[in-house]
Amino acid sequence: MQFEVFTLLPEVFPSYLETSIIKRARERGLINVRVHNIRDYTHDKHHMTDDTPYGGGGGMVMKPEPVFEAIETVLRLNPPQTPAEPASIVPIILLTPQGRVFDQSIAQELSQYPRMVLLCGRYEGIDERIREHLVTDEISIGDYVLTGGELPALILIDAIARLLPEVLGDPTGAQDDSHAMGLLEYPHYTRPPEFRGWKAPDVLLSGDHAKIEKWRREQALLRTFNKRPDMLEKTELTKIDLKFIESLKSGSKR
Ligand code: ADE
Repeated sequence: MQFEVFTLLPEVFPSYLETSIIKRARERGLINVRVHNIRDYTHDKHHMTDDTPYGGGGGMVMKPEPVFEAIETVLRLNPPQTPAEPASIVPIILLTPQGRVFDQSIAQELSQYPRMVLLCGRYEGIDERIREHLVTDEISIGDYVLTGGELPALILIDAIARLLPEVLGDPTGAQDDSHAMGLLEYPHYTRPPEFRGWKAPDVLLSGDHAKIEKWRREQALLRTFNKRPDMLEKTELTKIDLKFIESLKSGSKR
């Protein structure tokens, strides 16, 4: 997976990309992140990337020319790795609070692409022509406003990378994650079996895998029921799950 990041603040990225699982994924060639400085694609004396808004008002607006030139240059100079793939199927994603709100299913969807562009907005906004004629998708990481798209871009890279085969050491990978199954994940315990008088559930030490599976499924349902009941509406549930949820509603298992 090739990420092409376009930003005015390239210095934000290395520390995170050189850490832990993301670092190893890069070293193993499972992901490649290239960070491009939009300012390198300016041609005026002052390397201007922003300007005052037409019509007046506060703040500055990101100029279209350097953004177009940066992305067009990189996509043309480095054709996608799959030879038959047209450049047009490389999504050009603008990080913006106006985008569709990022979640696990969007991470799954984006993990299918071999290559993508992440464009980090800054200042008060971007010239609308970038949005209309260059960008193919807009993503927000939540209903709040940050100073720029750099942290959102790192969040996308992290969430997408860990879904790629082999990035996580565990062979079951990301399949049990909270949200992956449409439920919050069950609770985890490790040694010691008792800590300050608080015991790990006996079932987890029983060695009975069927019982453990059942307990984990019920815990995931219980957690989701208590913390994120909205998720239960959208998740595929078995008859046994539904029966368990009915028992929660009637108060017998809470
Ligand atoms: N840029 C500023 N705020 C943002 C948000 N919430 N999501 C994505 N990009 C942003």
